[in-house]
Amino acid sequence: MRIESDCNFDVNLVRQDFPILSKQMNGKPLVYLDSAASTQKPKSVINAITDLYSNYYANIHRGVYLLSQLSTDKYEEARLAVKKYINAQSEKEIIFTRGATESLNLIAYSYGRYFLNEGDEIIVTEMEHHANIVPWQQLAKEKKLVLRYIPMNDNGELLLDEYEKMLSNKTKIVSVVHISNSLGTINPVKYIFDKAKEFGAVTVLDASQSIQHTQIDVQRLNCDFLAFSGHKIYGPTGIGVLYGKLDLLKKMEPYQTGGDMILSVTFERTLFAEVPGKFEAGTQNIEGAIGLGAAINYVNNLGIENIAKYEHSLLDYATSRVLEIPQVKIIGTAQEKASVISFIIEDVHPHDVGTIFDKLGVAVRTGQHCTEPVMRHFNIPATTRASFAFYNTIDDINVFINSIKEVISIFD
Ligand code: ALA
Repeated sequence: MRIESDCNFDVNLVRQDFPILSKQMNGKPLVYLDSAASTQKPKSVINAITDLYSNYYANIHRGVYLLSQLSTDKYEEARLAVKKYINAQSEKEIIFTRGATESLNLIAYSYGRYFLNEGDEIIVTEMEHHANIVPWQQLAKEKKLVLRYIPMNDNGELLLDEYEKMLSNKTKIVSVVHISNSLGTINPVKYIFDKAKEFGAVTVLDASQSIQHTQIDVQRLNCDFLAFSGHKIYGPTGIGVLYGKLDLLKKMEPYQTGGDMILSVTFERTLFAEVPGKFEAGTQNIEGAIGLGAAINYVNNLGIENIAKYEHSLLDYATSRVLEIPQVKIIGTAQEKASVISFIIEDVHPHDVGTIFDKLGVAVRTGQHCTEPVMRHFNIPATTRASFAFYNTIDDINVFINSIKEVISIFD
């Protein structure tokens, strides 16, 4: 099967941008199939960080001197790159955080805590990552709220009829994962958010697994908040984004307080800075933001549509090859799927699968993938998950398939 030729980029050239992909692991060429956990980094991201430290590093927003100004400009350019990438209306709607987890906690704390009252309802789904469950559970406990979960079928598709029955004037927040990290399901979030808006609910998109695979337009999707992590989109770890509609952000309380988020402090009272400064307390992850900006530029250069098309071809090929092996069951068989294959091999624990794969140079994730309710739904302890990015090849998938066969032959 030749799929590279269908796309407007050459995967072998693209791979040269990622130094780590030419490494060996356990004496075998690395086959990296864990991009849903963290993506690898292109040279342009690595160079952007080196360049910062070598040429214009200083603390931002604080110095009158040129070096600080240069550093600040690069940091703010990164904010603009994010704004453009998700089609926000204003760069003030982009807040840098430590990652999607912090972004979601920020919404629960700074919006949920102040604007929800006893008896109000929050809707999430059965397939959420823990980061989009636990902050709401904590909030619900504190404020006596009701947390509802949209159920899914055994393909891993949300039951939208059930969702619509849950909606009422008590629904205040609908927070949904765009692409499931453990199943690969692409959820119909525009439909879900349009319905939520009929009841005036605030909508939150966990874009952790979609930001790197598909075009996101926050205005078209009708979402009030969006969260993602830099390390999932070829950028550094420890940086993430919270997008929020400006009118909401303006009326929210800060999440953390301290330096750089204030307008004025006296012993008696503090006036907070305007958005987004109000939500960026303390010295920020300057290199993280600048690295994320470089990552977004890299993705833009390849073209997110080319990426989506190529990754979809990889998924189709891998799925068809896995289905040829009778001892393997795929967990997550939705019609609309992104490039994730979670699976179990008959009578073999996923951790054993992962360990044998590692000896063969193949990196996959095994476990519950921070989605314990998903494992409960399928009545399984864990899965092995292979996730593909645009730097993977048909050869990678062939090695993956041979590795599954090797596991089966060892356990036979
Ligand atoms: N949330 C990340 C994953 O799905 C770590 O693997």
